[in-house]
Amino acid sequence: MSNEQQTQTRIYKPSEEMVKNAAVSGMEAYLALCKEAEDDYEGFWARNARELIEWKKPFTQVLDESNAPFFKWFADGQLNVSYNCLDRNVNNGLGDKVAIIFEADNGEVTRVTYKDLLARVSRFANALRGMGVKKGDRVVIYLPMSIEGVVAMQACARIGATHSIVFGGFSAQALRDRINDAGAVALITSDGQHRGGKALPLKPIADEALSLGGCESIRNVIVVKRTGAQTAMEAGRDQWFHDVCANQSDTCEPEWVDAEHPLFLLYTSGSTGKPKGVQHSTGGYLLHAIMSMKYTFDIKPDDVFWCTADIGWVTGHTFITYGPLACGTTEIVFEGVPTYPDAGRFWKMIQDHKVTVFYTAPTAIRSLIKAADNNPDVHPKKYDLSSLRILGSVGEPINPAAWEWYHENVGGGRCPIVDTFWQTETGAHMITPMPGATPLVPGSCTLPFPGIQCAVVDETGTEVPNGQGGILVVKRPWPSMIRTIWGDPERFKKSYYPDDFKGKLYLAGDGAIRDKDTGYFTITGRIDDVLNVSGHRMGTMEIESALVAHEKVAEAAVVGRPDDLTGEAIVAFVVLKGARPSGEEAKAIIKELQNWVGHEIGPIAKPKDIRFGENLPKTRSGKIMRRLLRQLAKGEEITQDTSTLENPAILDQLGQPLS
Ligand code: WTA
Repeated sequence: MSNEQQTQTRIYKPSEEMVKNAAVSGMEAYLALCKEAEDDYEGFWARNARELIEWKKPFTQVLDESNAPFFKWFADGQLNVSYNCLDRNVNNGLGDKVAIIFEADNGEVTRVTYKDLLARVSRFANALRGMGVKKGDRVVIYLPMSIEGVVAMQACARIGATHSIVFGGFSAQALRDRINDAGAVALITSDGQHRGGKALPLKPIADEALSLGGCESIRNVIVVKRTGAQTAMEAGRDQWFHDVCANQSDTCEPEWVDAEHPLFLLYTSGSTGKPKGVQHSTGGYLLHAIMSMKYTFDIKPDDVFWCTADIGWVTGHTFITYGPLACGTTEIVFEGVPTYPDAGRFWKMIQDHKVTVFYTAPTAIRSLIKAADNNPDVHPKKYDLSSLRILGSVGEPINPAAWEWYHENVGGGRCPIVDTFWQTETGAHMITPMPGATPLVPGSCTLPFPGIQCAVVDETGTEVPNGQGGILVVKRPWPSMIRTIWGDPERFKKSYYPDDFKGKLYLAGDGAIRDKDTGYFTITGRIDDVLNVSGHRMGTMEIESALVAHEKVAEAAVVGRPDDLTGEAIVAFVVLKGARPSGEEAKAIIKELQNWVGHEIGPIAKPKDIRFGENLPKTRSGKIMRRLLRQLAKGEEITQDTSTLENPAILDQLGQPLS
């Protein structure tokens, strides 16, 4: 049987040309890097940190493990990320090189050179300083995909303010919670955003967030004019971005910060409680952002790089705002959506801008496959995609069928696909092919990034043999790792360095299996109560809390179900305070609850399927049997013994979706 499996799995080797020219040239080069790190772990990272970053004050310490698991890297070094992304390139003769090609929702294109970007960032950084924003202050950014979004992040980095981006699709409540938790002094937002031909308001949501209470730390609100919508501005608090930047100097002395200074917080979902503020460092984070660009994307001076993520997610941080700019790359920033004006938009943009490295999510690919199947005019084969040389995937497992389609139809069968496994907490790539070295197997993220030491273990932390699934861990601290959870170091320890593993192994929260023969890793999905819907992370608890906050809801349990398009879909089991509804009434309440969750968290958190019961399946000790709910959500027959259930009859009620 294993022979049969082997012949069925096609292996894609990099072309000779790719091997010859790549930064990591062939498997020997990859293995040599791994060996370098194996032999002298700190030396490996230190060498790269010296070569790839311009330090104001060189570091003499590398890894400091004295307060594990609160690790420090390059702690006595000083630098500035914005200097490394902008000034360094301008000083090296790249001032007139295009840094950002911004394509608006309506197709309008704006090009910003490195020199121009530096001036824009400096002006806004001066404006922030003028408002009294200083090193260590937190600034929340609630902006759509825009040049100003990148400028705002870089400006914070320039003055040592710690930014925290809140995705533009999040609700007022979610924004309020993040502002409150971070204790932010300033909020940067816009009047609205353009998406799919529509102008959507943003400032009113920001106003609502600020009115909810708990945002008293905010002194300044800066508003980018994007849609030109009528916008209420509160005197003494709100100012237009263009007004505060006017008359500012084009130069701004960067704030030199310690390598461990928090560059940003980014809130992400965990299995329990509220979203946690993942805190990243300056030096270690920048290092691995650059290394991922160099090694995984093999970035070269002539490349045109396009990461389609939103700056609201970690992928947008590392692969829009920081990594590409730190490498002096020309990159695309796209305001719109892949389906407007039609589902050929990505392919047209690759053709128009001669994109060479393209990085997107499996969900996007799957929806574009469907669109191309239905309408040959938007099929990638209709476009000239010959500029492409490397394709990337991120955010969720890519199923082999989508991989093959992407490889064949977008990459013309000649572009390696780097299936990059990583997380908000890891800062940059952890397990990924090297495009000029690693033979590819669809559906596998292959082997660890050079220097990163991953393993699959059992519940006791013991490594399991290849071919046997288990828990994915990282054995040694690495430079771009999460430093702590903002304001909650205990939760950091518990979540990532649990006692089960004696506090020695980083727990990613994913399951994985390594191939018997190749040792390749395949990610099997989250092992906790975190859902991954269209590559967006959400905690089941967050959605449950939103549901029970509704006046009609007594109790709710949320689980995930596999979905062809979105990877996972959200299914909610709900007990109402009144009688169990049916028919039209039930349908109306489903709509109401979906909208409610959309309003509480954001549209991405809306349950796809809501089922009502008079109760939830519970053990006699009152614990909700989530395993059963997962089976019900999938429509599977319950075969196991349910005699420990308090109320077995409830399963019939919950088994059927309404529509
Ligand atoms: C999942 C996104 C399989 C995984 C960068 C992880 C993946 C979570 C992959 C992190 C991949 C990300 N293959 N699964 N290539 N990339 N994941 O924090 O479950 O938004 O734990 O970071 O996405 O999501 P996050």
